[in-house]
Amino acid sequence: MTVTTSDTASAPQPKYRKDYQAPGFWIHEVELWFDLGADGTTVRSSIRFERNAAVTEPGSPLVLMGEELETLRVSVDGKELGASGWSATATELTVRDLPGDSFTLETEVRIHPESNTALSGLYRSSGNFCTQCEAEGFRRITWFLDRPDVMATYRVTVTADKTKYPMLLSNGNRIEEREEEGGRHSVVWEDPFKKPSYLFALVAGDLHCHRGTFETMTGRTIDLEIYVEHKDADKCDHALGSLQRSMKWDEETFGLEYDLDLYMIVAVSDFNMGAMENKGLNVFNSKYVLARTDTASDADFEAVEAVIAHEYFHNWTGNRVTCRDWFQLTLKEGLTVYRDARFTADKTSEAVKRIDDVQGLRAHQFAEDSGPMAHPIRPEQYIEMNNFYTSTVYEKGAEVIRMYETLLGRDGFRKGMDLYFERHDGQAVTCDDFRAAMADANGRDLDQFERWYLQKGTPTLKAVGCYDEPNQTYTLELTQSAPENEPHFEPTHMPVSFGLVGPTGADMGLAFEGEDASKAPTNRVLELREMTQTWTFHGVCARPVPSVLRGFSAPVNLEMERSQEDLAFLFAHDSDSFNRWDAGQTLFKGVLLALADRAAKGEALTLDPAVVEAVRNLLNDESLDGSLKSQAMSLPGFSVLSQARTHVNPAALIEARDFVIETLSRELRGDLLAQRKAARPTGAYRADKESIHGRRLANAALGLLSATGEDDIIEMAEEQFAAADNMTDSQAALGCLVQIPGSHRTQALQAFYERWSGDALVMDKWFAIQAMSRPFDVAAYELLRAHKNFTMENPNRVRSLVGVFAMQNFRGFHAQDGSGYRAVADAVLELDSLNPQVASRMVRALNPWKQFAAPWSDLMKAQLERIREKKGLSKDVFEIVSSALG
Ligand code: ARG
Ligand code: ZN
Repeated sequence: MTVTTSDTASAPQPKYRKDYQAPGFWIHEVELWFDLGADGTTVRSSIRFERNAAVTEPGSPLVLMGEELETLRVSVDGKELGASGWSATATELTVRDLPGDSFTLETEVRIHPESNTALSGLYRSSGNFCTQCEAEGFRRITWFLDRPDVMATYRVTVTADKTKYPMLLSNGNRIEEREEEGGRHSVVWEDPFKKPSYLFALVAGDLHCHRGTFETMTGRTIDLEIYVEHKDADKCDHALGSLQRSMKWDEETFGLEYDLDLYMIVAVSDFNMGAMENKGLNVFNSKYVLARTDTASDADFEAVEAVIAHEYFHNWTGNRVTCRDWFQLTLKEGLTVYRDARFTADKTSEAVKRIDDVQGLRAHQFAEDSGPMAHPIRPEQYIEMNNFYTSTVYEKGAEVIRMYETLLGRDGFRKGMDLYFERHDGQAVTCDDFRAAMADANGRDLDQFERWYLQKGTPTLKAVGCYDEPNQTYTLELTQSAPENEPHFEPTHMPVSFGLVGPTGADMGLAFEGEDASKAPTNRVLELREMTQTWTFHGVCARPVPSVLRGFSAPVNLEMERSQEDLAFLFAHDSDSFNRWDAGQTLFKGVLLALADRAAKGEALTLDPAVVEAVRNLLNDESLDGSLKSQAMSLPGFSVLSQARTHVNPAALIEARDFVIETLSRELRGDLLAQRKAARPTGAYRADKESIHGRRLANAALGLLSATGEDDIIEMAEEQFAAADNMTDSQAALGCLVQIPGSHRTQALQAFYERWSGDALVMDKWFAIQAMSRPFDVAAYELLRAHKNFTMENPNRVRSLVGVFAMQNFRGFHAQDGSGYRAVADAVLELDSLNPQVASRMVRALNPWKQFAAPWSDLMKAQLERIREKKGLSKDVFEIVSSALG
C-alpha cells in the first residue's frame, strides 16, 4: 500500500516497522486513581520510571503520549513542577526537570468519557463506564508510554457514585472496597502480572453478574463472572459454558492453565470491534456474549463461543506473551484466530469449519489483498494502527500459523508452542521470535518461511499433472508466481497437501520411486520452495484425478486446467471434504463467469444440465451432513466472482448469479422439498450437532426454493416464520419473505419489529435482513436511515444498515446512477466526526473502484474524492481514502 501524504504539510505521517527503537524509559509500576463523574472524570497517576540507558542520554527529557487530556498537575518525586518543568501539546507531554534516571512521576488530568463518541479510551455505554485501549486508546486516559513493549504492574482505585455504579471493575484482583463521602464508594484492584497499557480495562456500572467457576488442571478454583445489563440476565448461560469449555480445551490441547483467580467478561452494547482480551477483564460487544435460543441463531451461538474462546486464548497468546510493537499484531491475532478455529473445529465439525473459514478468507481477505489496502500480515507502515485490524492480519495470519502446523505436524507445532512460552513468557516479542521457536523446537530451517510475513498479495499456485500410462507414473509440476501487486516476490515455502483419486473414487497410493504404491500414504504434504518443482509418483495403475491443495493447505489462488467432468468427479468423490466442496466452487465459478460475460453482451443464458445433476447428487448423498450439503449448494459470491475479472460489470454478474440460482431452484425443486422435510428437526428446539446441521440444510433449501417466489414456497416460509420457536428458523424464514415485494414482506417485517423492537441485537438483524434483500434500493436505505430505531452512534446498528448495504447488497450499492455510493459516502462523512474507526471500516466498500467498469468505477472514485475533501478528516479515514486514490 502506498500513502500519499504530500498534499498538505499537516497530512498525517506514517510510522515504519524498520524504525523500531526500544523505549527511552521503562515503567515498572503504575498506580491510578479514577474519580468518575457525570461531567468529566479526573485521573491521577503515579508512575515509576527508569531510564533505558541503552537508548537515551542521561538528562534528556521524558516524553509521554496523550490525546484529549486536560493536564491539571505534574509532579516528580512528590514535588509539583512549575510551568518551566513541563510542557504539553495536543499529543505529547515533555517533562524536563528530572531528578535522575529513576523517579516517580505524578500527573492529574481531566477527561470526558460522557462525550466520547469515538469509543476509544474511557467512554460511556448505556449509562455505564467502560474502556477500549487497544491499540492506542490508553493515551486518551492518561499521559503514558502507550506502546506494547512497556510492561508494568498496575494498582487501580476507582471511585464513583455507589447507587449508579455499584460495580467498579478493573484488571486483576479486587483487594479493597470502601465507602466514601457523599454516597460514593471506591474499589481497589491490583494486577500482579506485568502488562502493556493496551490491556488495561475499567468498567463501572449497574450490572447483573452471572457467576460460575472453573477448576483448573492443578486443582485451583477460578471465579468466573459475566456482567451484563439487568434486562439480559437470562442470556448468559451460553457465554459461561463457552468460557468453561475454552479453559478446559486450552489445558488439554496446549497445556495452558489460567493464571489469576478471577476471570470477568463484561458485555457492552456500544463497541467498535468484536471483543477485547484485557487482563482478567474482557470487554465484549454484547453481540458476542448474549444468546438465548429465541434471540440468537445457531450461527450466533457458534460465534459467541468462538469469540469467548478467542479472547480467553489471548491470555497466553497476547497477554503472557505480547507484541513488541504494533507491526507484530499478527503474532497474537493470527495465532489466536488459529487457536479459536481449532477449538471450533473440535467442538463442531472440522470440515464444515474449514469450508466456512476459507469462504470468508476468499471473500474478504483475498479482496483486501488485491486492493489498495493490500499489506503483508506484518505491515511495514501505518498511519492509524486501528486500520490494520484487518482480515489480512487476522485471517491470513491464521493461515500462516496453520502452515507451520501443516509443515511440522500437530506434535511438532505443539513443541514449537512449548518452546515459545518457555522462552518468552512475560515478554513483548516479534513474529521472528515465534518462527525461531517453531524452527528450533523441530530442528527445521524456517528462514524462507519469513517471506509469508514480508510479501503482500495472494500468490498463484499453478498445477500441471501428467499421467504416463505405459510407465504408470504421475508427474505433478507445481509453480508459484507473484501476486500482481507484489513486485519483489520471491518463492515462499509452501505446503501443498496432495492426493490422487482413482477411477472408483478411492484415493491411490503416492509412492516415490522405489516405494510400494499399495503401502504408500494416500496423502502427502509436498513442500514447494522453488518457483517450480516436480514430483513423480510411481505405480499409478490407472488415470487418476489429482486433488491439489487439500484442506486449503496454503492461502493461494490455485490455477489448474481441469475439465468439468473431472471437477464433477471430485465434487462427488474427493475424500478430502474441503477439496470436494472446492471442486464444486470451481465448477460453479467457471459457469457463472462465462454466463456473466454473456449477460454483459446481452446474450441469452442457459445452464448446462450437468451442473444441475452435480448438485442433485450432492444433495442426495447420504454420507454428507446437512451443513456440508448446504455449503455444497452455496454459489461463489459477488466478491469472489468479481476478483476473477477486471472491468467488472456488476449488473451482469448479478444477472448471471440470479439466473443460476433460479434455474437450480426450479430444476431441483423436488429434491429441495424432500431434503428440507427430512432435515428439519421435529419437536422442541434442540442445540445438538444433528439438529444444527438439520436446520442449516432445511433453511438453505428453503432459501434456494424461495428464489423463484412461488406462492406455495412463500406460504411455507410464512408458516415457518409464524411457528418458529428459535431465531435460526425465524430469521431464515424472514430472510426468504423479504426477497420479493408484497404483503407477505411488509407483514413479516412488521411482526418481527413488534416482537423485538426492545431488543437491540435482534433489531440489528431486522435492519440487516432488509439491507441485504433484493428489493432494497437507495430509497429504502434512506427510509431506514431515518427510522427512529436507527442511530449513527451505535456501531452494531451502523454495521447492520450501512455496512450490510455497502458490502452485501450489490444491487443497491452498485446502482448504475451512483446513488448507492453517494449514500454510503454521506454516512462515512457523518461518521467521521463521531467515530473515525467505524467510518474507516465503512469507507472501504469503495476501495475496489479500479476493478469495476465504467461508469461504476468513476462514480465510486468521485465519492472517494468527495470524502478526501472534507476538512479535518480523521487520520483513520484519510489513510484508507488516500491509499485507495493513490
Ligand atoms: N484484540 C482484540 C481481539 O481480540 C481486538 C481489539 C481491536 N480494537 C481496536 N479498536 N483496534 O481481536
Ligand atoms: Zn484477537
